[in-house]
Amino acid sequence: MPGTVIVGTQWGDEGKGRFTDYLAEESSLVVRYQGGHNAGHTIVVDGEVFKIQLVPSGVLYPHVTPVIANGVVVDPAVLLAEIDMLEAKGVSTARLRLSGNAHLIMPYHQEIDRVTERYLGKNKLGTTKRGIGPAYADKALRVGLRVQDLLDPKIFREKLDLALREKNAVLAKVYNRLPLDNDAIAAQYLAMVPRLEPLIDDSVHLVHGALERGERVLFEGAQATFLDLDHGTYPYVTSSNPVAGGVCTGAGVGPRAIDRVVGVVKAYTTRVGSGPFPTELHAGDPVGDVLVDRGHEYGTNTGRRRRPGWLDLVMIRHAVRLNSCTDIAITKLDVLAPFPELRICVAYEDEHGARYDHVPYHQSVIHKVRPVYETLPGWECEIDTATTLADLPDAARAYVARIEELAGVPVSFVGVGPARDQTLVLGG
Ligand code: GDP
Ligand code: IMO
Ligand code: MG
Repeated sequence: MPGTVIVGTQWGDEGKGRFTDYLAEESSLVVRYQGGHNAGHTIVVDGEVFKIQLVPSGVLYPHVTPVIANGVVVDPAVLLAEIDMLEAKGVSTARLRLSGNAHLIMPYHQEIDRVTERYLGKNKLGTTKRGIGPAYADKALRVGLRVQDLLDPKIFREKLDLALREKNAVLAKVYNRLPLDNDAIAAQYLAMVPRLEPLIDDSVHLVHGALERGERVLFEGAQATFLDLDHGTYPYVTSSNPVAGGVCTGAGVGPRAIDRVVGVVKAYTTRVGSGPFPTELHAGDPVGDVLVDRGHEYGTNTGRRRRPGWLDLVMIRHAVRLNSCTDIAITKLDVLAPFPELRICVAYEDEHGARYDHVPYHQSVIHKVRPVYETLPGWECEIDTATTLADLPDAARAYVARIEELAGVPVSFVGVGPARDQTLVLGG
């Protein structure tokens, strides 16, 4: 059963796109199974930088068929703009497939995302304002519009009118906004059909065809385990299920179709948006500033400064469980070069001194826990030209070994820079 999943183990931006690109070389299909253009995946090839939000990161290989599966929410204008961007850079998007069952992000979803965030005031979630939550909410409410609805203008219009009647009432009466215009939205979306129609396909059939032929299928996660709607730090999460289990519903395969789950672990932690973060190094902390500067920790998508912190192995252990990770890929080890000492969080302590070796389920507890750190020596030299594990200084190898020990699964790859060839392959 040759299905591999790439999943983020923290709060996103671990470098999933980079490892999807790396593993895509041996895959025939690369499939996005959840999320939308809240994702920002960066891939660096021969010095050229590709920032991708919707198209699966496998697109850079001519032998890969990139598939946007049913679990994704799609803003078609963003998709077309991304296709144009890739084509302008000389990347063929001719093989791209889009599930007819994927839900559409509509202009009212983005408007509602913006106004509800404003309405929440200091309790705002810090969403990407891409309409992700409202689009998934409509899917669950069964008033969503799907990609396939674009193929029948009459049905599209009927569903749009029905949805917009309620949305406009909410926008006008609750949020004091101007109503959106049905005709303008219908015209805008239907005008894209000639370009979208050739992409629309049955993604479930495509995935199973590849699996039955014994080809490798790579499922590319967006967001991450602690942004998962069920398992993340709710309500400071996204509205989909990035965990490996999300592949089953989001792409239409059973668990037995998956034999490898690679958890991507940034060598430290970052988070964008609101929510608890036990190992956070708060504004003004010099270590946090170095992590942000050296790691270029600004959102690919929104440009926001990411909140930095030390590596949290309590989270990683939990992520290994939640995703059944078979192995992990570490990114950005090179960023840690200047520090004489490094910290790894191995447990939490609450305000009464109780110790947690696992992530506590209760929101009030996780908001208040303090990290219990183990200190490891740093290596204080650049490692970005290393090509094998043996090239790393002892202290860097010890850091990787300690992560492996605490995570309980092998480390298969270590990133020492963003480029394809800055990947150390470990063990066999
Ligand atoms: P994703 O959302 O998980 O795909 O990650 P992003 O692309 O949003 O953020 C990861 C950033 O780190 C990107 O700018 C990558 O080019 C960069 N990156 C990935 N791996 C490494 C690495 O090993 N070292 C360094 N220095 N940068 C990396
Ligand atoms: P990738 O795939 C980091 C965060 C937002 C916000 C919360 C909810 O690049 O790792 P949403 O717009 O999804 O309703 O926002 O989730 N968030 C991400 N943070 N990386 C991402 O994607 C993210 N996608 C959403 O900042 O806190
Ligand atoms: Mg990202």
